[in-house]
Amino acid sequence: MKTRGAVVHKAPGTYEVVELDLDGPRQGEIMVKMAASGLCHSDDHVATGDIPAGVYPFCGGHEGAGVVEEVGPHTPGFKEGDHVVFSFLPGCGRCRWCASGMQNLCDLGSGLLVGSRWDDPTDFRMTLEGQPVGQMCGISTFAEHTTVSVASAVKIPADIPLDRACLVGCGVGTGWGSAVNSAGVRPGDTVIVMGVGGIGINAVQGAAHAGASYVIAVDPVAFKREKAEELGATHSFASMEEAAALAKDLTNGQGADSAIVTVGVTRPEHVGQAFSAIRKAGTVVVTGLGNIMEVGLPISLGELTLFQKRVQGSLFGASNPSTDILKMLRLYTEGRLKLDELVTRTYTLDEVAQGYEDMHAGKNIRGVIVYD
Ligand SMILES: NC(=O)c1ccc[n+]([C@@H]2O[C@H](COP(=O)([O-])OP(=O)(O)OC[C@H]3O[C@@H](n4cnc5c(N)ncnc54)[C@H](O)[C@@H]3O)[C@@H](O)[C@H]2O)c1
Ligand SMILES: [Zn+2]
Ligand SMILES: [Zn+2]
Repeated sequence: MKTRGAVVHKAPGTYEVVELDLDGPRQGEIMVKMAASGLCHSDDHVATGDIPAGVYPFCGGHEGAGVVEEVGPHTPGFKEGDHVVFSFLPGCGRCRWCASGMQNLCDLGSGLLVGSRWDDPTDFRMTLEGQPVGQMCGISTFAEHTTVSVASAVKIPADIPLDRACLVGCGVGTGWGSAVNSAGVRPGDTVIVMGVGGIGINAVQGAAHAGASYVIAVDPVAFKREKAEELGATHSFASMEEAAALAKDLTNGQGADSAIVTVGVTRPEHVGQAFSAIRKAGTVVVTGLGNIMEVGLPISLGELTLFQKRVQGSLFGASNPSTDILKMLRLYTEGRLKLDELVTRTYTLDEVAQGYEDMHAGKNIRGVIVYD
């Protein structure tokens, strides 16, 4: 069938809406009419080339929710009309990682930027004038319709608004899990969150939720600092110097228990700043992404060893999407996790490029595309 989707033709480039050909669902696949998609910074990394895609054109978007329109043959578990949230990380349920409670590290994830079907790198679900179009994370939520593997979809209750539910497919799970799972925030902790966008705001929520006494948010943009304080930060600063100084004051000179790096374009020096701000045996969580070819961190080897500090990467907040997406939504319906407050502005599909301009201008916590 034909569908409209936002693609980048090359990197660096910008998202542009084109008419695509979309395969119907094969066995193990569903075709979904999109309802909403968040504008996560990671799709912008694909457009800038900081994270290169396997093939261009590449159709963006990986934080989406919609309604199942067609189910592939012999594909149990889904039916027409089901509401689904996509997980940006697929879960096969069988590999070593899925089987040991690390579904976010599922081996299928190796195909995230290839853009093809998981089992064949030459077989694409989308094409443009006969040429293959890669699907971001195998899902491409910047399209009116998309066909995905069932490994990427989680069925959700039909009474949850899809324009809120979409956020748990990346930003919420990633940020919340970075604090709760990866930093292992404990009651009474002092936590620094560096960078308050769609990811960092949820790290703030997660740290507050886990019982931190002090959640110190850092962002150069005043509006972001205000939002952080609305959603659980006890303090906010424009620079890490100020945040690190307060963390030391609050802890008898020891430093923060953890510092979570969620800067939009994360550079090694950001990790270095976070590393200097934590206490002995504290944890730096690195969730933000930058140029993925970069190697080397400016951290003190002495502090690493002698202060027993820990640098912990975090993918989708170290969560298990099949269970944690539903858990996040339950917390939302209980009023214990805020989603409505995260959406600063909504856009049409044709306004994707504008959404990313606004993100760079610091105007949005999260911009969300809402489909008709
Ligand atoms: N690890 C994962 O699983 C995962 C998942 C999704 C996104 N990400 C990455 O997380 C990062 C954040 O994504 P987002 O959608 O929240 O981006 P965003 O652009 O919405 O937010 C980033 C924030 O960082 C702030 N910032 C910039 N420089 C800063 C500095 N020096 N100190 C403090 N704050 C600074 C910006 O003002 C902005 O508010 C991106 O790199 C994205 O690719 C990682
Ligand atoms: Zn994302
Ligand atoms: Zn797996």
